[in-house]
Amino acid sequence: MKSHHHQLLFMFLVFFAQKIELLTAETFTGTYGINYGRIADNIPSPNEVATLLRAAKIKNVRIYDADQSVLKAFSGTGLQLVVGLPNGFVKEMSANASHAMTWVKENVQAFLPKTSIRGIAVGNEILGGGDYELWEALLGAVKNIYNAVDKLGLADVVQITTSHSQAVFDNSYPPSSCIFRENIAQFMKPLLEFFSQIGSPFCLNAYPFLAYMSDPENIDINYALFQKTKGIYDMKTDLHYDNMLDAQIDATYAALEDAGFKKMEVIVTETGWASLGDANEAAATVNNARTFNYNLRKRLAKKKGTPLRPKMVVKAYIFAIFNENLKSGPTSERNFGLFKPDGSISYDIGFHGLSSAESSLLSLKAVQSGLTKSYILILTISAAALILFLKQ
Ligand SMILES: *[C@@H]1O[C@H](CO)[C@@H](O)[C@H](O)[C@H]1NC(C)=O
Repeated sequence: MKSHHHQLLFMFLVFFAQKIELLTAETFTGTYGINYGRIADNIPSPNEVATLLRAAKIKNVRIYDADQSVLKAFSGTGLQLVVGLPNGFVKEMSANASHAMTWVKENVQAFLPKTSIRGIAVGNEILGGGDYELWEALLGAVKNIYNAVDKLGLADVVQITTSHSQAVFDNSYPPSSCIFRENIAQFMKPLLEFFSQIGSPFCLNAYPFLAYMSDPENIDINYALFQKTKGIYDMKTDLHYDNMLDAQIDATYAALEDAGFKKMEVIVTETGWASLGDANEAAATVNNARTFNYNLRKRLAKKKGTPLRPKMVVKAYIFAIFNENLKSGPTSERNFGLFKPDGSISYDIGFHGLSSAESSLLSLKAVQSGLTKSYILILTISAAALILFLKQ
């Protein structure tokens, strides 16, 4: 009889432990995140965006600055946010540690913990870009921002990173031959050294869309779109790739290994496909964008690694929530959004538009409060059983 009681008690403890585990923090929940670019004058308000994302159950969000209206709107939503220190601030933060401290206090600390800021991206695509003074300033800015976060006791909550474009690489085909470009390596290696000390991942912006468009004669578009193809074979590693994004990630792992950072994790901080482009951007169609984003969602939902790093589950932030009408450059740049400016879907990959998001969020709330009630009921029953047990 006694052992039966022990079993019962054990079951309750397991139940409580599981509930507690749900409350602990993670930098990236699940595998699917999204970029919230805001270079537009016609997109929904930050409050509406928070509603949209919660209804779509997308928890991980990146913004390119630390806009206060967004930070306020995301307060108490449970959405996990990575904020950006724009490139225009990088030299100043590198030159003056006290400015870095002020920036972190005003843009990050002031909003914690209600707004769940989980990371700061220091600059975007600096190495490989056109401004060499930024290349030199990047590591100093990363260090000053990290030291500020650390002094404020936030280093376990807020992760410091910087995202790289594929312009930092040489020879990305086959994936195993990929290395960092020679003129970049002298800036990249000390940066990677620092990131490995503080446990930050390598953040990659990877666009099969751009890779395909640079060489449409030799690349099968289906390979870039995660459709069925014979894929590619990497002789050196004896590995087979059935889609380009996996190959791009493994090319990054190969370059990291070559530079001496075999253990560093790669996270995709941007990937996406444009639904409209100029005459010379024929691959930018609604159909291709839908196929890429639909298949990408399925790929990420598998929670699997890549051929070279099967245990490193692929995590990616999609680019982007909205089409951004004020962006410069080719037409494709303004047409990466999963949603149209009015909040309706651009194409169907299983997400709902804003108006149905609002109604589905209401029903979600009803389900959640139903769940809470059943938890309370179970807790009450457990407590009663426990009292009975102790009385014996
Ligand atoms: C950093 O900025 C502060 C405040 O603006 C200033 O007093 C200080 O002299 C600056 N330090 C350096 C090293 O430029």
